[in-house]
Amino acid sequence: MAKIGVVGIGRLGLCFALNLERVGFDVFGVDSNADYIQSIQSKTLTSNEAHVEYFLRESEYLSVSTELKLVLDPDIQLIFICVPTPSKPDGSFDHSYIDKVCDEILKFDRPEKEKHLIINSTVMPGYCDSLHERMNQHGYSVSYNPEFIAQGTIIEDQQFPDQVLIGQANEEVGNEIEAIYRCFCQSEPRFSRMSRTEAEITKLAINCFLTTKIAFANSIGDLTIEHGGNQDNVLAAIGADARIGPNFLAYGFGYGGPCLPRDNRAMRKAAKQVNLELPISEATDRANGLHRDFQREAFEQSYSKEEQIVFSGLTYKPDSDIIVESQRLELAIDLAREGYSVLLKDRVEVIDQIRTIHQDLFVYEILTDD
Ligand SMILES: NC(=O)c1ccc[n+]([C@@H]2O[C@H](COP(=O)([O-])OP(=O)(O)OC[C@H]3O[C@@H](n4cnc5c(N)ncnc54)[C@H](O)[C@@H]3O)[C@@H](O)[C@H]2O)c1
Repeated sequence: MAKIGVVGIGRLGLCFALNLERVGFDVFGVDSNADYIQSIQSKTLTSNEAHVEYFLRESEYLSVSTELKLVLDPDIQLIFICVPTPSKPDGSFDHSYIDKVCDEILKFDRPEKEKHLIINSTVMPGYCDSLHERMNQHGYSVSYNPEFIAQGTIIEDQQFPDQVLIGQANEEVGNEIEAIYRCFCQSEPRFSRMSRTEAEITKLAINCFLTTKIAFANSIGDLTIEHGGNQDNVLAAIGADARIGPNFLAYGFGYGGPCLPRDNRAMRKAAKQVNLELPISEATDRANGLHRDFQREAFEQSYSKEEQIVFSGLTYKPDSDIIVESQRLELAIDLAREGYSVLLKDRVEVIDQIRTIHQDLFVYEILTDD
C-alpha cells in the first residue's frame, strides 16, 4: 500500500500513524524528541491512550526517526503534520512549530513530483492559505485536515468519526485524503470537503458550539436549582427536543481541558482579526466562570471551615490525566484559597502534577487502580 509521512507523532500523530499502519499503509513517522522515538522503535512506549501500546506492539509497517528526510522519500506524496500549536496570550495559536518543519523541508531539494502537506494541527483561519502560498512555489501543496477527538479515546475517535473535515488544496488532493480515511474509518462519516479557510473556521466553530452547549446546560441547571427544581429533569427534556439533542447537555462541571477553551478563545480572536465581535464565545467563558462561582457558593453553604471537603477525580474529564483548565481543580483551588481544608484524591500521575504546582495548598491521597 501507499507510503505516508507523519511529522509530529505525539498524542494525535501517533494514533493516526498507528491507525494507518494497521490497515496496511507504510507509515513513516518523524518526531524531534529522540527519547520518545527510541521508545517507539523499541516498542516500550507507555501510553494512557487506549489501544496505543497494543497497536504499537503489533505494528509491522511503522518506521520512525528524528530525521525529517525520512518523510521526503520520493515515494511519499502525502505528509501529515501534527506538531503542537500552543495558544498565545491573545488567544490565537502559535504556528511556529509548523513553520519550523516547513523551513526544514525547504532545506532539501525541490521534489520532482509535487508533494502534499496536510496540516492536522489546530490553526487560525487563513494560516494554511498563507502556508500554501509560501510552499507551493517549492513543489508542495498545503491542505487542512483537523481531527475531532478526545484524549483517552483518540484511536477510536479516529476510527469512528461523524465526519472527516478536509480543507483541500485542490480536488485531487481532497480525493487522496478522503481515500485514506475510507481505508481505516469504520463508521460512515460525512466527508466535508471545502476550502482550507472554511475548514479552519469549521474546526473552531464546532468546539465553540460545544462550549456554548455545555455553558448553557450548566447555567439552566443553576437557575433550576435556585428555583427549587431538579436540573436533570429540565435538561433531559430540553435535550429531547430533536432540534437540540441531548449531547453535551448534562449538568456538571464547566468545560475545560486542552482543546475546548482554547478553541473558543481562538474563535473570538479570529472574529477580531476581521473586525467582528463574537459575543457568544465571550458569554460562554463568562458563564463557565459564573457556574464555578455557583458551585463554590453551594460548598460554602454546605460546609463549615472545620470540615474537610473531598474532591475525587481532578482531571478535566474522567479517564484522563490532564489537568489543563480543569474546572474541578479550579473549584478546589478557589475553596482551598478561601481557607477550607480540601482533600484531593486521584491517581499518582495526577496528584504529582497538582502537588508540583500547588504544594501544600491541599491534602493529597493517592488512589490505586485496585
Ligand atoms: N491531542 C488531542 O486530543 C488533539 C485534538 C485536536 C487537535 N489537536 C491538535 O493537534 C496538534 C498536536 O497535538 P498533540 O496533542 O498531538 O501534541 P503533542 O505535544 O502530544 O505532540 C506533538 C509532537 O510533535 C513533536 N514535534 C515538535 N516539533 C517538532 C518538529 N519540528 N519536528 C518533528 N516533531 C516535532 C513533539 O515532540 C511531539 O511529540 C495541536 O495543534 C493540537 O491542538 C490535538
